[in-house]
Amino acid sequence: MQKNTYYITTPIYYPSDKLHIGHSYTTVAADTIARYKRLKGYDVMFLTGTDEHGQKIQRKAEEKGVTPQEYVDEIVASIKELWKLMKITNDKFIRTTDDYHVKTVQKIFKKLYDQGDIYKSEYEGWYCTPCESFWTKTQLVDGKCPDCGREVELTKEESYFFRLSKYQDRLIKYIEENPDFIQPVSRQNEMLNNFLRPGLEDLCVSRTTFNWGVPVTFDEGHVVYVWIDALSNYITALGYMSEDDSDYKKYWPADVHLVGKEIVRFHTIIWPAMLMALGEPLPKQVFGHGWLLLEGGKMSKSKGNVVDPVILVNKYGLDAIRYFLLREVPFGSDGVFSNEALINRINSDLANDLGNLVSRTVAMIEKYFGGTVPKERVSGDFDDDLKRTVIETPGKVEELLDKLQFSSALTEIWKTISRTNKYIDETMPWVLAKDESNKARLAAVLYNLAESIRVVSILIQPFMPETPAKIWEQLGINDSDALAWESAKEWGRYPENARVKKGDAIFPRIDLKKELEELEKMTIQPDESKTADKKESKPAPDNDNKEQAKPQEKDGFITIDDFAKLDLRVAKVLEAEKVEGTDKLLKLKLEVGNEIRQVVSGIAKYYSPEDLKGKHVILVANLKPVKLRGIESQGMILAASDDKDLAVLTLDKAMESGVKVS
Ligand code: ME8
Ligand code: MG
Repeated sequence: MQKNTYYITTPIYYPSDKLHIGHSYTTVAADTIARYKRLKGYDVMFLTGTDEHGQKIQRKAEEKGVTPQEYVDEIVASIKELWKLMKITNDKFIRTTDDYHVKTVQKIFKKLYDQGDIYKSEYEGWYCTPCESFWTKTQLVDGKCPDCGREVELTKEESYFFRLSKYQDRLIKYIEENPDFIQPVSRQNEMLNNFLRPGLEDLCVSRTTFNWGVPVTFDEGHVVYVWIDALSNYITALGYMSEDDSDYKKYWPADVHLVGKEIVRFHTIIWPAMLMALGEPLPKQVFGHGWLLLEGGKMSKSKGNVVDPVILVNKYGLDAIRYFLLREVPFGSDGVFSNEALINRINSDLANDLGNLVSRTVAMIEKYFGGTVPKERVSGDFDDDLKRTVIETPGKVEELLDKLQFSSALTEIWKTISRTNKYIDETMPWVLAKDESNKARLAAVLYNLAESIRVVSILIQPFMPETPAKIWEQLGINDSDALAWESAKEWGRYPENARVKKGDAIFPRIDLKKELEELEKMTIQPDESKTADKKESKPAPDNDNKEQAKPQEKDGFITIDDFAKLDLRVAKVLEAEKVEGTDKLLKLKLEVGNEIRQVVSGIAKYYSPEDLKGKHVILVANLKPVKLRGIESQGMILAASDDKDLAVLTLDKAMESGVKVS
């Protein structure tokens, strides 16, 4: 019989020097679904890869003094290493610099040109290099990129255009008729209301001002717009338009493209329009997940948070990290990453709830029965409730995983774990063990515990690549029938003759306080606390050489070292609102690289919240947090002021948030 197929993709990643734990988010989620579908018997195609062309990459390579190819080769190798470490089971890895991909993108471009969907014209417009996006003047917000708020560059060049406008009505109709196409629903409304209904303009799809891209075969000097190149990966990887397109025939249309929310627009407007033009079916679903953010200051420094996935995995184990990523935040919403939250999860959910359940059960079976539960058993109170909870769980988990609700699926599994732990308290095996006449009842209790753990160990497989085998080793299960996914739906499959074997704790407890101190030491200390203290409790000099500090104060100069103590950063205003009960203060939500900061600023008399949104301001990032009107302010933004007016400092040119100011 032919298996059902399932095709799942992640976005292809920009080669970036510094991979943080947020980058692993989409991939770990996709891997979990791929593993789940394989366990369910699907023929799965799981694709990931790298998006290596474009002006941004070319510029970075130039900065480093290497060729773009050299630049990407090195980073791609480290990305592949990371996926290996995280046990990502992708079936293919595509690089947009792969020969076959380049050839197919050229064929796609030519076909669209030949049929009139791509035409040549002159482009004059605005380009946001960080987003690799074109904008018309009317789309700009305050003259800046409407997506990221950064500066845009005026570009004028001869270009090819894709007739995106032609597909507008078909796209709207498709989205309205297929409510599952864009998920979660909120993103669907955003696309319809903000982009599609106001009207689409034709899209500029070639560039001539740089050359790191797929060359247009019929017009020298033009390279294909990087998003056309990148989006095509989902079909070029399957051999679309190549000699062997059997995978394309087998797996397309994709069941789901998992993407971060910031790139839903490309996947639900440009991509389906391209496919419509090519006459190919559209993917069944595009799911836009939320972001993992860092909060309250520079994680890697002031708070001692470590976000390097390699360090995290080596320190806490892969399964703990994967569990945290998928459990902590509902997929689709934004969430905050912190080492403290991670360690708390490890201690409570993994070490305490699951780890203890396994070790206690194994220890009791060894202690009371020498390692194997006797066949003679007597059922009793609480058994039915336990069985019912356990046996209902697989169905619930499947339903939730089918909707990509990872966090809720894990919650269901952990409810079963809690129910099982409670069963130990209810039945009190140590009391039963005191009386020989309770032996058959004790045997039933221990069997039920082992059986519940068997079901749990099967259900956690998609999320955790390492833990299930450790549990099976301890429970003494090696019969594959008792480990099949479907067997989790049947009570009583824990093998009669299984012999348990005590092992190491599957999730050792972590001393939170000690660990946080250790993490703190691993990170660079800019010594900001001292800088801040100095302001409050003068004189408190922060270096040993008091003599040197004095004359500086006298002559009014500071040294460059003094200045370097200030950590000034570019910050983007995401949100601004008035603070209640005062007409002076605004509460700002700032993006600083990958972090989010809250700053309270006394500028409400000069700026309305709307004025500030999207602006790039300068943040004093290492100022000690203070409370203003009960609201924590994590730093301050710079402004010029006289007694009449106040002007917030912004940037003269495009810069990403998080960039250092000096
Ligand atoms: O966008 N939290 O690549 P990318 C959650 N090349 N997800 C995060 C994250 C965070 N802090 N940081 C990154 C691109 N991601 C394009 C895609 S597809 C044809 C081209 C996620 O490297 C991000 O949302 O910027 C996206 O899903 C993925 O990492 C790759 O992002
Ligand atoms: Mg991105």
